[in-house]
Amino acid sequence: MKKIFLSTLLIAAIALQFCTSPKKTQVAPVTPTVPVAPVVVKVNYETDVKSLLVTKCTPCHFPPDGRKEPLNSYASATKNIDDIIARIKQEPGTHGFMPARKPKLSDSVIHVFEQWKADGLLEK
Ligand code: HEC
Repeated sequence: MKKIFLSTLLIAAIALQFCTSPKKTQVAPVTPTVPVAPVVVKVNYETDVKSLLVTKCTPCHFPPDGRKEPLNSYASATKNIDDIIARIKQEPGTHGFMPARKPKLSDSVIHVFEQWKADGLLEK
């Protein structure tokens, strides 16, 4: 009697394994119902670059007070972008460093100019 009971238990245990194991593999991966699109905001002159030039490069590059290469328009900023990036990345005290006689721009500000170029120099 004891043997029968034990073997029944064993069969039940094996049967249970067969019943439960496929379930584990059937668990569907959780997929979000609303696809989350990455937010890609491109840098543009009107929103991001213009105000930086105004605050960091005045008065020298803003006519009529500034007498250096004007950086007061979209056209002049795009024309000089390579020179701008090269100069703001220089170390203070080296020849050609910009903004002249001011502290070096922060990495995040420098990055805005680099990203603007990478994004295709958008106006707005
Ligand atoms: C205190 C005045 C002053 C400020 C502020 C200043 N610059 Fe200049 N900039 C100069 C002078 C002076 C020169 C010419 C000397 C030279 O070429 O190194 C010059 C030259 C340049 C040139 C080369 C253009 C050319 O054809 O002569 C670029 C590009 C430039 N600056 C970018 C900038 C940027 C970008 C800023 C702001 C982040 C800035 N500068 C802020 C005085 C200034």
